[in-house]
Amino acid sequence: MKPSPLQLGVLVSGSGTNLQSILDAALEGRINVDVRVVISNRKDAGALERARRAGVPAVVISHKQYDNRESFEEALIQALRQHDVEWVALAGFMRVLTSHFLHAFPQRVVNIHPALLPSFPGVHAQRQALEYGVKFSGCTVHFVDEGTDTGPIIGQAVVPVLDSDDEESLTAKILEQEHRLFSSVLQLLAEGRIVRDGRRVKILGPH
Ligand code: GRF
Repeated sequence: MKPSPLQLGVLVSGSGTNLQSILDAALEGRINVDVRVVISNRKDAGALERARRAGVPAVVISHKQYDNRESFEEALIQALRQHDVEWVALAGFMRVLTSHFLHAFPQRVVNIHPALLPSFPGVHAQRQALEYGVKFSGCTVHFVDEGTDTGPIIGQAVVPVLDSDDEESLTAKILEQEHRLFSSVLQLLAEGRIVRDGRRVKILGPH
């Protein structure tokens, strides 16, 4: 019997190509994930339309409508709970979450970052990598903790940085890997094959 799907909520702020790759993989049965709700803190996020097209509830919760982070996060938590979400994926969500949110979904929040962490956390990771002059960059999926892109690393994918690369071409190359990596990590989570051992995250063999 197929195990029950991972009940996922996706938080977004932008165009949502990572969200799209998750929706496509779920629809095509490549991952055992049920995207229950997509929440954006920006009403103009393209990701909202992608969710609607896939028949997934698309909710706007603007951080600007709240006096402080905690009340904004409380609204996120309520919306996620209303849709029976168990795991949360940050897919281009541009707000830092506090312990208030993280306690509501303990060790069940994952993020994708467009660099090989711990190098180049924060914004403009691809530009940071180019300016530093690294020869390889990539993307990282990690558990979220209170820091900015500091949580335990689950998976990474590497791309070469060529002399001809600029920010646009590097971003495109990394994004292609993000789409592949995020889905494969979500499938491992759905299969219950990811275990945390302090900072180290280990992947169990198939059942
Ligand atoms: C991705 O590069 C992701 O790693 C970063 O923001 C970007 C979101 O892109 N956190 P998209 O909205 O999924 O297209």
